[in-house]
Amino acid sequence: MHILQNISLQSYNTFGISAKAKHFCEVSNIEELKNVFSLKEYPTKFVISGGSNLLLTKDIEALVIHINIKGISIIEEDNDYVILKVMAGENWHEMILWTLENNYGGLENMSLIPGKTGTAPIQNIGAYGVELKDHFVSCEALHTETLEIKSFSKEACKFGYRDSYFKNEGKGKFVITSVNLKLTKTNHILNTSYGSIEEELLKKNIKKPSIQDISNAVITIRQSKLPDPKEIGNSGSFFKNPILSKEEFLVFSSKHPEAPFYKISDTLFKVPAGWLIEQSGFKGKRLGDAGVHKKQALVLVNYGKATGQEILNLAHTIISEVRNKFGITISPEVNIIR
Ligand code: EPU
Repeated sequence: MHILQNISLQSYNTFGISAKAKHFCEVSNIEELKNVFSLKEYPTKFVISGGSNLLLTKDIEALVIHINIKGISIIEEDNDYVILKVMAGENWHEMILWTLENNYGGLENMSLIPGKTGTAPIQNIGAYGVELKDHFVSCEALHTETLEIKSFSKEACKFGYRDSYFKNEGKGKFVITSVNLKLTKTNHILNTSYGSIEEELLKKNIKKPSIQDISNAVITIRQSKLPDPKEIGNSGSFFKNPILSKEEFLVFSSKHPEAPFYKISDTLFKVPAGWLIEQSGFKGKRLGDAGVHKKQALVLVNYGKATGQEILNLAHTIISEVRNKFGITISPEVNIIR
């Protein structure tokens, strides 16, 4: 394990922001991770994984630690289920392709989400009606001070909508090293409830979809409206969909009866931030190299040379316009480093 100096982080964040790391190293096993956290000469450390949920607005003075710990193993199985232990550095989508090759079901709706497996629990990633927590058993994480590996049950992770213990009380205290997932080997539970999946299957005339068919449908849908970070820098949804109380929602929907919404419970309603942003006139807008994606207003993009600060300025403008127009405050989903 070598510590390098003045390394560009452009290829380590999907926004493609060209911030620098003053010190940088890559770890490929847990021993290396422990060693690097015990280095007293670098008092501050900054962990980077897939860099797919990150906006860098400045150079990083700390020691940047890139997690590249690989491996997938079966830790338990019977005729119906398998429990996989996936190491943190495994690419999420490639890991799903591997599960599909082995006919393990559960993750197919979350195909093509960028990033690595170790960061999936931090914001309880989800798409097309399925969230990580639906298949999560436990994870292991290194406590960055005691250097002990601690196991977290599903309850201990306190998962919520794009939220977990690791984004709140546990923030900055742990580095997730592996994730255990429970998947089906037979009688797969297919989730086609999300409208566009049904439409896509219908287009292909698939009546009895397999888990592979669902994954293919999700890949087609995502490719049709989400920009590929390899072609245009982005970090997926930049904002969370705001959650309104019943009272707030009734006021909102009486003024905007055409607005789409999801009922979460009898008292909570989620309104798509993408709709609010589009209605505020930002879809496809561009300010220098920072922009709002043409096909999905929830996604901010870097057309090439935008700085993190320019993306952040655009985000602030959007937040205040949406607040002026709808009285709703939307907040970022990405981890902003200022
Ligand atoms: N909409 C608009 N204009 C837009 C975008 C969306 O009017 O520019 C409307 C759509 O017409 C639809 C509603 O908003 O009625 C919801 O849109 P969509 O189904 O595309 O999903 P979303 O709420 O925008 C969420 C996740 C995505 C995930 C999709 C599918 C969040 C913050 N985002 O987006 O996650 O892929 O659902 O499940 O919850 C990500 O987190 O990076 C991500 C892409």
